[in-house]
Amino acid sequence: MIRFGDVKNMGKEGKTDDLMEKIVALCKRRGFIFQSSEIYGGINGFWDYGPLGVELKRNLKNIWWEDVVRKRDDIVGLDAAIIMNPKVWEASGHVGGFSDPRVDCKECNARYRLDELPTRVRVEAVIDEMTNGTMTVEEAVDALTGGNGDHFLRILKKAHKKRTNPSDVIEILFGKCPQCGGELTDARQFNLMLKTFIGAMEDSSSVAYLRPETAQGIFANYKNVLDTSRIRPPFGIAQIGKAFRNEINPRNFTFRSREFEQMEIEFFCHKDDADKWYEYWRDARYKWYIDLGLTSSRLRLRDHETDELAHYAKSCADIEYDFPFGISELEGVANRTDYDLKKHQEHSGKDMQFFDDQTKERYIPHVIEPSGGVDRAVLAFICEAYTEDEAPDDKGKMQKRILMKFHPRLAPIKVAVFPLVKKEGMPEVARKIYDDVLASGLTCFYDEKGAIGRRYRRQDEAGTPFCVTVDGQTFEDQTVTIRDRDSLKQDRIAVEKVVEYVRERIG
Ligand code: GAP
Repeated sequence: MIRFGDVKNMGKEGKTDDLMEKIVALCKRRGFIFQSSEIYGGINGFWDYGPLGVELKRNLKNIWWEDVVRKRDDIVGLDAAIIMNPKVWEASGHVGGFSDPRVDCKECNARYRLDELPTRVRVEAVIDEMTNGTMTVEEAVDALTGGNGDHFLRILKKAHKKRTNPSDVIEILFGKCPQCGGELTDARQFNLMLKTFIGAMEDSSSVAYLRPETAQGIFANYKNVLDTSRIRPPFGIAQIGKAFRNEINPRNFTFRSREFEQMEIEFFCHKDDADKWYEYWRDARYKWYIDLGLTSSRLRLRDHETDELAHYAKSCADIEYDFPFGISELEGVANRTDYDLKKHQEHSGKDMQFFDDQTKERYIPHVIEPSGGVDRAVLAFICEAYTEDEAPDDKGKMQKRILMKFHPRLAPIKVAVFPLVKKEGMPEVARKIYDDVLASGLTCFYDEKGAIGRRYRRQDEAGTPFCVTVDGQTFEDQTVTIRDRDSLKQDRIAVEKVVEYVRERIG
């Protein structure tokens, strides 16, 4: 059986189960993530962040920016344009080579990335498991197609009922469209860059591309930054921004989208120091996710095998997370050597060398690139936070509850403030506390509607770490209760200590 957390059985970005459905439903119900243009039926591969989602995402980006730019003296920031001179993409190799092999169904026109279709060995292994009874028919279809294979489902159900010879089943399925059973075309290369036109004419001279990565904006500005900042290798340039890829098959919620955000650092150093900096960034970036609450049992650091490396990379490691749909990449850390700067020097004719006035050496720096996806990280933190447990309701009866256990630094709302009842002067006192918390710079939510238990539950689902309640005792000794989202423990503290109490615990 394939279950969430069962690492060894998980296909790459394959299996999805109802945990993912629950997470997607919560994201919509509570305003974390909506389908883009939903009122018109949506658009595949594009997503919108609602009021809670945008705070979560912004917190993540701010923490990254604080940690890699503001708290360091060797990295500076950049915000380059999304559309650049198309020559940038020729130099970087994206015009010629940024493509995935694509296969189309001749009958229903469904389009697949070649690596999404199961290999013969995979089909054999799955049929074997189904025959042995270790996998149900539905699980077999999931394992082979990620759940999107009506034709496979029909064939496997029939084969299971009639006990068809496994080798005959393999012949029927292999190389056919999982959705309709139609013939597939041979693999063709499909460039992933999204094109547009600049200016009044729509012809080949006005073609431009939406950037498929933020990195090239950094390489194209490397000399500008070097010449204008008091910085010299080893140093980095960091950027957060949108990137666009015409993915053949966007899938797994926001994981593979056509519009997404990246957070990238290009770290420039002398080639003799490149191995040392590669190891430094690989370990630092892995630890960053753990410190923000991704447990190390679901997070892993995987060094690429030599045959997996891109032609320009000397070494590369993926930081991967065990999502409900499989183990997949959050961030890649690569030693890109001097490949990119050399290519831009060649194509632009501009000198990309750095002159070291101490050693008198002139050289093109080597580059270590930690390249993370903002949306993928947000999704991993959402999956990690999603928890179901039991908590007592207003009458002390245990009830199922859903809570989002975000690290307090990431939580969209840090504090919620409630009057116990909507009378006896409690709303006025609670409003005053709410105003004070907001004025301190912490995100805060005020709610006076409905039973107190239900108000707590709503905040649990939003991931709010602290709920403050004004009750009768507040008028006697100027104290309030403050409830911890995870432990449900309630402390009684002085009204004027609320902000200090929360700040101490946010970390
Ligand atoms: N500059 C290097 C680069 O762009 P990449 O592995 O293609 O490398 C880096 O992308 C990160 O961007 C990935 O680790 C992932 O987090 C994110 N990413 C890439 N494609 C994505 C997509 N279609 N949807 C969401 N995030 C994506």
